[in-house]
Amino acid sequence: MRVLVVGSGAREHAIVLAMAQDPEVTALACAPGNAGTAAVAEQLGVDAAGPAAVVALATDWKADFVVIGPEVPLVAGVADAVRASGIACFGPSAEAARIEGSKTFAKDVMAAAGVRTATAEIVDTPARLDAALGRFTPPYVVKDDGLAAGKGVVVSSDYDIARAHACTLLDGGHPVLLESYLDGPEVSLFCLVDGDTVVPLLPAQDFKRVGDDDSGPNTGGMGAYAPLPWAPDGLVDELVADVVAPVAAELAKRGTPFQGLLYAGLALTSSGPAVVEFNCRFGDPETQVVLALLRTPLTALLHATAVGTLAQQPPLQWADGAAVTVVVAAEGYPGPPRLGDVISGGEADGVLHAGTRRRDDGAVVSSGGRVLSVVGTGADLAAARADAYARLDGVHLAGSHHRTDIALRAVQGEVAAPVAT
Ligand code: GLY
Repeated sequence: MRVLVVGSGAREHAIVLAMAQDPEVTALACAPGNAGTAAVAEQLGVDAAGPAAVVALATDWKADFVVIGPEVPLVAGVADAVRASGIACFGPSAEAARIEGSKTFAKDVMAAAGVRTATAEIVDTPARLDAALGRFTPPYVVKDDGLAAGKGVVVSSDYDIARAHACTLLDGGHPVLLESYLDGPEVSLFCLVDGDTVVPLLPAQDFKRVGDDDSGPNTGGMGAYAPLPWAPDGLVDELVADVVAPVAAELAKRGTPFQGLLYAGLALTSSGPAVVEFNCRFGDPETQVVLALLRTPLTALLHATAVGTLAQQPPLQWADGAAVTVVVAAEGYPGPPRLGDVISGGEADGVLHAGTRRRDDGAVVSSGGRVLSVVGTGADLAAARADAYARLDGVHLAGSHHRTDIALRAVQGEVAAPVAT
């Protein structure tokens, strides 16, 4: 099978590394890819968000199967176009991808499906902002209604900061979603969904703030670990039954079945699990740790999702132990990053590439905000964490920064799911 993976992050590097081990994959390409994916897959140029461009590339390259990683192409309808061209494709239709592309749409689906989430109010004009904010209590949660690469959210107890973020979004023409704050530990649950069947992967936790102790602004994700040693028994089954399956059923009922990876971001609150957000694709950086532990061949699994045969797949096989990833970000990130710095140590095992490219002189340099995602594994979370940070010591990028506390509180036994009241 000739497989084309669309995207250029560490998520796509993790996907192509897993697929490169699958015997049925006879050719593997990544478009546009990065310096890391280029070492395992053919690197092809493409405007990933352009449906016609991706179809032309997939057709020219004679792809049998296309896997779309990021949300932007999915929301733009790239998966629809690839399927319409007769090529099997992993990824939801543009209609189903609205579960991530429009937070208002996601709220509507959740309400219809009876799924718990934060109460919310949409504001589309500054004239309504103060009255709407006044109906919430701190901490205020202010979100961009559309796609914002994880950076559209501000959570602050300071009214002025919350208001200023909302004003910036509104001034840019973006409707704003105000939400009640959901406390409790967060869980990222990835589920393969083929329209009907829902197959959960291992639960993970990511770290969205840029700094240690969850300080500073939100990012696309600074690190992650899986599985969750503190998760109560039966948590995943409960989340599938109460959250993911009802949402998948609601999308199918609306005539827009979800086919791909449905990512539920949840908070385990004292009143029970509640959805923070849905995403329409594998999360980054959680994918890097989840796939580090998956032993079932990935290509067949994603293909079964694409062609509607997930129910016939054997149970997933997982490695024992745990995985931790730490993101190395460029100076300035999550603001405008400094680009073009030379990376050393980036070719080592466990170092996944995101914003990297190879210069004409052969040097690998930074080309984005999140540059690398360093993955460690071990017999338990403490060992995986130690492995990740030891690997990170071998990587050098001038001006870069990373969090030093990924998975630390979980290792120290300081994370616990609240007992629901
Ligand atoms: N880890 C957050 C995201 O992928 O959106």
